[in-house]
Amino acid sequence: MCGIVGYVGSQSALDVVLAGLKRLEYRGYDSAGVAVVADGSLASRKKAGKLVNLEKELVDRPLPAGPAGIGHTRWATHGGPTDTNAHPHLDNAGRVAVVHNGIIENFAPLRAELAERGHDLTSETDTEVVAHLLAEEYAGDLAAAMRRVCRRLEGAFTLVAVHADAPDVVVGARRNSPLVVGVGEGEAFLASDVAAFIAHTRSAIELGQDQVVELRRDGVVVTDFDGRAADVRHYHVDWDASAAEKGGYDYFMLKEIAEQPKAVADTLLGRIGAEGQLTLDELRIPPQVLRMVDKVVIVACGTAFHAGLIAKYAIEHWTRLPCEVELASEFRYRDPILDARSLVIAISQSGETMDTLMALRHAREQGATVLAICNTNGSTIPRESDAVLYTHAGPEVAVASTKAFLTQLVACYLVALYLGQVRGTKWADEILAVVGDLARIGEEVERVLETMEPVRELARSLAGADTVLFLGRHVGYPVALEGALKLKELAYMHAEGFAAGELKHGPIALIEEGMPVVVVVPSPRGRSVLHDKIVSNIQEIRARGARTIVIAEEGDEAVVPYADHLVRVPATPTLLQPLVATVPLQVFACELATARGNEVDQPRNLAKSVTVE
Ligand code: F6R
Repeated sequence: MCGIVGYVGSQSALDVVLAGLKRLEYRGYDSAGVAVVADGSLASRKKAGKLVNLEKELVDRPLPAGPAGIGHTRWATHGGPTDTNAHPHLDNAGRVAVVHNGIIENFAPLRAELAERGHDLTSETDTEVVAHLLAEEYAGDLAAAMRRVCRRLEGAFTLVAVHADAPDVVVGARRNSPLVVGVGEGEAFLASDVAAFIAHTRSAIELGQDQVVELRRDGVVVTDFDGRAADVRHYHVDWDASAAEKGGYDYFMLKEIAEQPKAVADTLLGRIGAEGQLTLDELRIPPQVLRMVDKVVIVACGTAFHAGLIAKYAIEHWTRLPCEVELASEFRYRDPILDARSLVIAISQSGETMDTLMALRHAREQGATVLAICNTNGSTIPRESDAVLYTHAGPEVAVASTKAFLTQLVACYLVALYLGQVRGTKWADEILAVVGDLARIGEEVERVLETMEPVRELARSLAGADTVLFLGRHVGYPVALEGALKLKELAYMHAEGFAAGELKHGPIALIEEGMPVVVVVPSPRGRSVLHDKIVSNIQEIRARGARTIVIAEEGDEAVVPYADHLVRVPATPTLLQPLVATVPLQVFACELATARGNEVDQPRNLAKSVTVE
């Protein structure tokens, strides 16, 4: 949420910052702005709307190149998406500029205080107070001024600032919101995400909580808010610039859907031993602790929450441990029952989702062990967890999550199977068999992708529909929820997912003549009772006029008479079916959004990484 870039070095700061903002636009696209220090003065341009508006403004009113600069792409919180509210914000003398991600909770008293001292604040944002406070505190050392200001701020914030009197310095500060440092030869970078500087350097530094960083061409100094030198973790980014580019696809989402077989395989890589045993030593949770666990609680948001709902079926089945799944935003407000024997799993692609972060902090305060499942190396959620299992989806740029979801599922299965392995549950044989199936699942996902043209055609034919319903049972139920979420966020259509068994308890009243209803059908093998029941559900809705779109495994002939449209997916063990059944729903939503003329990668009102509660 909000993308931030800072640069100091021998290249044109303006060019580096703008290129970085392009890579971060997925974090917010309500407005964009830049500020550059050159020849002892500071100049800034900012514009409401997408980055392209700022680029046009820069053509009409160019800025000097300059050695130091900052930039921002905004997801509005305080104040609407206007030119005035766009970042950077400057002090009244125009000497200091600041960009911000997060929310400064005590901005109102600070603003009143500044007004009393004669400052003229012109925007409706919480950020502007920081520019004015920095101007007051600056006495020749921008980092020192930043530390003093940070000590007065409450809330979550990443701040990056430049000062006209310090042409070779960029300063950043971090509390709760993401900020990483890139270290190049004679240059340094700051950004909300390494994607912003990956074209220049793959050498990065993780900033910790409540730290201030001073960037100069010849080095980087990190301290805490009191000025004490801080320990930092250097790391090497293991993907390159091409991973964050569209690579010939019209949208990042299409590329990311296509990357799923590889993402799934990469997430399994090195985690299954030659004998089919799981090797998750990286978890750093001793087996004796895992053996003592008496309940699992999963916290996550949105798509990651749906991965958690599916994980519950796997965890309870393979480990016989009770598992609860809770929306992270609700978790800490209901006094959950946790103790040292609880294992809390926090699932997050970005590793920065504030709701999930707050939930895991609450869990740790209660003594629970927290395991993060995360796609972003060095992000806050894994940093604050007891252990982490990284998914290897690579950078996910499209706002709607696709490949991250599939890899979250894989990671959840791995954790469930590993817990089963460590705890020696009676499902040992089944565990071994499933590990084999999991190892082949990337190929099955590939097969699904090869057969998606009819799904795309169907989606185009439904561009004028008002509502689409999704039904599923067992693990197909969270898949239905995920299908509906994808359609809401991308096609802006009314879409709802239901457990098919609940239909008769109310939602069936929604069915009208011609209404498209997607049904995710469980395998007829294994739990065939469920299969038979959902076939009855399909008949019930069809009798009431629904246009049925049935997702069923190859060889399932029982559904054929009742499917107006049949989408085949490969036969998999029941618990793994979401890995193949979700893919058509992603393709469906993406194509429907395109057919309706929507922005696929940047749906309205959304941002990729939600760093506010
Ligand atoms: C939907 C989507 C969101 C995220 C949610 C959690 O397509 O992407 O629902 O899944 O905001 O984000 P992370 O996984 O970064 O915590």
